[in-house]
Amino acid sequence: MASRSPSTPPHRDGLSRRGFIGRTGAVVAGTAAASAPLDTARAAPQSAPAQQGENLVAVALTVNGRSVRLMADPRWTLLDTLRERLSLTGTKKGCDRGQCGACTVHVEGRRVLSCLTLTASVDGEHVTTVEGLSDGEHLHPMQRAFIAHDGFQCGYCTSGQIMSAVALVGEGHADTDDDIKEYMSGNICRCGAYPFIRDAIKDAREEMR
Ligand code: FES
Ligand code: FES
Repeated sequence: MASRSPSTPPHRDGLSRRGFIGRTGAVVAGTAAASAPLDTARAAPQSAPAQQGENLVAVALTVNGRSVRLMADPRWTLLDTLRERLSLTGTKKGCDRGQCGACTVHVEGRRVLSCLTLTASVDGEHVTTVEGLSDGEHLHPMQRAFIAHDGFQCGYCTSGQIMSAVALVGEGHADTDDDIKEYMSGNICRCGAYPFIRDAIKDAREEMR
């Protein structure tokens, strides 16, 4: 089994609850990061997985409409690459083992768990994160609906919920409450915001059709 490269959990030390919620709102809006250029040379923080010369492979991706080329350790997950190499921290690391859905992104329009997806395995493909959903200042209908219906409390699961919800509507699995419950069941919300998330999805699906 491929070992997962080291990564750093989200920095919440020294951050007040109010500040954290404020930051979460920024993530849901997804506008600031969406407009930032992907400067991969600048984006690698101290905590990025260590590069190990001869083992690196060249990977070319299109992330939120922008071309990205980087040398990646074959063990790096897409989640760690997005967060640690590309500074796209809207995608969250919850369990890091495929159980919570917080890391959900789209690859070629399909929702995937980025913690279980190796970066090298999506070479040449299109990746969309929550930062790429909005069109400049214009939020995606699902982002607006989550805000309108208070579809979150702490917000940690929210980007994954939104990415799954957008895919859900595209898959045609958002017609009934039971369908929404079933096909969103991979996205866990420890705050229990499920009724509001369902309301948001039902609201957004009308605009998305
Ligand atoms: S972080 Fe990927 S499923 Fe939990
Ligand atoms: S809003 Fe807190 S985990 Fe979902």
